[in-house]
Amino acid sequence: MKGIVLAGGSGTRLHPVTRAVSKQLLPVYDKPMIYYPISVLMLAGIRDVLVISTPVDLPAFRRLLGDGSELGVEFSYAEQAAPNGLAEAFVIGAEHVGDDTAALVLGDNVFHGPGFSAILRQQVARIEREAGCALFGYPVSDPERYGVGEADDRGRLVSIEEKPARPRSNRAITGLYLYDNDVLDVARGLTPSARGELEITDVNRAYVERGDARLIDLGRGFAWLDTGTHDSLLEAGQYVQVLEHRQGVRCACLEEIALDQGWITPGQAYALGERQGKSGYGAYVMELATRAGRGFPPLRAVA
Ligand code: G1P
Repeated sequence: MKGIVLAGGSGTRLHPVTRAVSKQLLPVYDKPMIYYPISVLMLAGIRDVLVISTPVDLPAFRRLLGDGSELGVEFSYAEQAAPNGLAEAFVIGAEHVGDDTAALVLGDNVFHGPGFSAILRQQVARIEREAGCALFGYPVSDPERYGVGEADDRGRLVSIEEKPARPRSNRAITGLYLYDNDVLDVARGLTPSARGELEITDVNRAYVERGDARLIDLGRGFAWLDTGTHDSLLEAGQYVQVLEHRQGVRCACLEEIALDQGWITPGQAYALGERQGKSGYGAYVMELATRAGRGFPPLRAVA
C-alpha cells in the first residue's frame, strides 16, 4: 500500500499563526503536527509516502523530512497548486500510487489509542485481499463540522454526507482513508462540488453506492484530536504532554516506529537522536536506541 499525506490549505482559522507557517508544521507539544499522520502510515507498515502541500510550503516539509532514507522509508513530494479539495490528492498522486492500494491521511489529524497499529495492519491487509475502502468513524459532539457516516450492524457504510445540517449519526469520518486501486478512477471522474472542490466525501459515496465501504469504529476510549483552532491545537498539545509525562513514552516518534519495525538499526536510531540530543525528544530517541542495542524490549509506543 502506498501512502499520501495531504498537508495543504491556508489554515485561515489559525491566523495569524499560520500566515507565514504551514499549519501542519506547527508543534503539537514536542513535534511538528505532520509527524502524527506520518506515524499512522508507518504503523500501518507503509514505507512509501507522498507528501502533498502548497508550492510555498512544500520546501519546508522537504527540509523537515528529507527523502526518508534515514528512517528506512521513502518520502516524495508533490504540489497542490490551488486548494482544489482533498480528493485531488489522488489525481496528483496517481503516478505515486501506480497499480497499488492507497492510504490517504490528512496532515492535521492526530490519532492516539490502544491497539491502533493492529487495527491499521488488519484493515490494510483486508483492502489488499478484498478490495473496497475502509473509513474510520469517531463519535463527536459536533458531527455537523465533519463528514458523517451511518453504518449497518455489520459495519457496512450505508450513507455518507459532508457537513450535514442535520446529521444522521454522531459518527464523524476521520481524515484517514484506505482504498483499493479504483480510487484513482473514482477521483479522476469526480465533478467539483458547489464550492469548486473535489470532495473526498464524493469518493467515499461512490464506494458506499457499490456497497464496498466499511466503517471501522474507533470508539470512546480513543483520541482523535482536533487541531483546527487555537484552543483545540493547545488542547491537543496538552493531551500529548500529559500522556508522555505520565507514561514516559512518546507518541508519534518516527525514529521509534522505524526502529520497532526493524527498518533501521539501533545504531542508526542513536545517531538520529544524537543530532537532536539537546531536546527531550532527541534524548528519548538516544535512550531507546541504547535499550534496543542492548537487546532490551521496546518501550511499546503507540501512535
Ligand atoms: C475534511 C473532510 C471531512 C472529514 C475531516 C476530518 O474536512 O472533508 O469529511 O471529516 O476532513 O478531519 P475539513 O477539515 O477539510 O473541513
